[in-house]
Amino acid sequence: MKMKWLIVALLIMGIILIGIYVNNQDASVETPIVLEKETDDIQKNALPIPELLVDSNPDEQIAEYYINAQYGTSNFIEGKQTATLGYNGDYLGPVIKVSRGEAVRMHVKNDLDETTSVHWHGLVVPGTADGGPHQVIPSKATWEPSFTINQPAATLWFHPHVIGTTAIQVYNGLAGMIIVEDENSKALNLPDDYGINDIPLIIQDRSFNREGAFVYRDNMMDGAVGDQVLVNGAITPNLVVQKVKMRFRVLNGANASNFTLRLENDHAFHQIASDGGLLESPLLTEELFITPGERAEIIIDFSIYDTGDVIKLLNENERVMTFIVGEDADDLTEIPERLAMIEKMDENLASSTKTITLDGMGHMVTLNGSAFDMNRIDDDVALGTMEVWEITTRASMMMRSPGHPFHIHGTQFQVLSRDGNPPYLNEQGWKDTVYVYSNETVKIIVKFEYEGLFMYHCHILEHEEAGMMGQLEVK
Ligand code: C2O
Ligand code: CU
Ligand code: CU
Repeated sequence: MKMKWLIVALLIMGIILIGIYVNNQDASVETPIVLEKETDDIQKNALPIPELLVDSNPDEQIAEYYINAQYGTSNFIEGKQTATLGYNGDYLGPVIKVSRGEAVRMHVKNDLDETTSVHWHGLVVPGTADGGPHQVIPSKATWEPSFTINQPAATLWFHPHVIGTTAIQVYNGLAGMIIVEDENSKALNLPDDYGINDIPLIIQDRSFNREGAFVYRDNMMDGAVGDQVLVNGAITPNLVVQKVKMRFRVLNGANASNFTLRLENDHAFHQIASDGGLLESPLLTEELFITPGERAEIIIDFSIYDTGDVIKLLNENERVMTFIVGEDADDLTEIPERLAMIEKMDENLASSTKTITLDGMGHMVTLNGSAFDMNRIDDDVALGTMEVWEITTRASMMMRSPGHPFHIHGTQFQVLSRDGNPPYLNEQGWKDTVYVYSNETVKIIVKFEYEGLFMYHCHILEHEEAGMMGQLEVK
């Protein structure tokens, strides 16, 4: 009798060990190290500010940009080299600034030895210019989409979107930011001096081994999570800020982790924009919850501090970065009470209501009961019609589904309700990614203004890759 249980126990242990082994196969078997980088050397660990990409076309109405996906070497940890990927550089990419109405031509070169694609996350463009899995760029090839910017001022981003390697390419460094401006945003007196009082904060998490190499641990439950938070590719960097209102364009560029950002002193700041643009009015808050793929623009007023004050930005209780208050400066910017006009889309005018069920966890995930198939179009949408989508994580499987950041390509939508309750105050503007909590139903209203094939999926990149994605055709 005892013998039987011993055998059963040994079998279970064996299965668990095999599971752990298989799970760590493509990563490193070594335990990753957690870094405590408490350097006070501000210069040495200054926040990297991505370069603004130069428009190579002198014509005012046309912008032309060159982007190269390439191999790089980065130095995240003192004395250690990390093999990385980047656009036009070693890690991450430049910031592309465009204006509404501008015609844009992109030249995207793939200098990698594998295929990639570049998807403009949040950009409202025709399917053929979207950069999703249908616009694969073979190694050494160049992809040259053209489109016209036709949406409000916003913070968007770009990243690979190829079947099977999206998650690892993003993890290794392929991501960049897009800033869209419009007449309204230019007329407002918001901080918009790039690199001075308008700063991108691309927040990600990564794990390293003792040699300094990235460790990609595709956790069975939640996708690849890291031990260390990075901002613009630096571990707990410092930024010297002027004693003025500073605007930060926060992008959650993590593969799978949610971040809850706050200042260590718990002072409030203003959120002025969500994924697709400015909110109607600024929102005073002490905390920003941001999930993979989402963006938020916030303004922190440093004029209330003294020169030399040190203010930490935290994720939960862990340091993300440090602001060091610098010299007095004239601040001509303001946070107006009215930021933008957002016309509410009327639910009564929607032509149909659809349900999107996100189910499962780890690698066993589905969307509406099946895993993504490149050769199957899951849905047809009539051009220009409004639809209500009910995105639910109420599991039909045995397992209870975790929360999922749900994203749709080629559009900006509005959140109507969460389990029948009004959406959060910071999601009452334009969104392209919305977090659906475990056992929740989020109702959104969406409209597609361009024809083509578009993806919709969970933005936990490992869930997306495991099949929590569908595609629709707008025609
Ligand atoms: Cu951020 Cu389908 O992408
Ligand atoms: Cu997208
Ligand atoms: Cu998910």
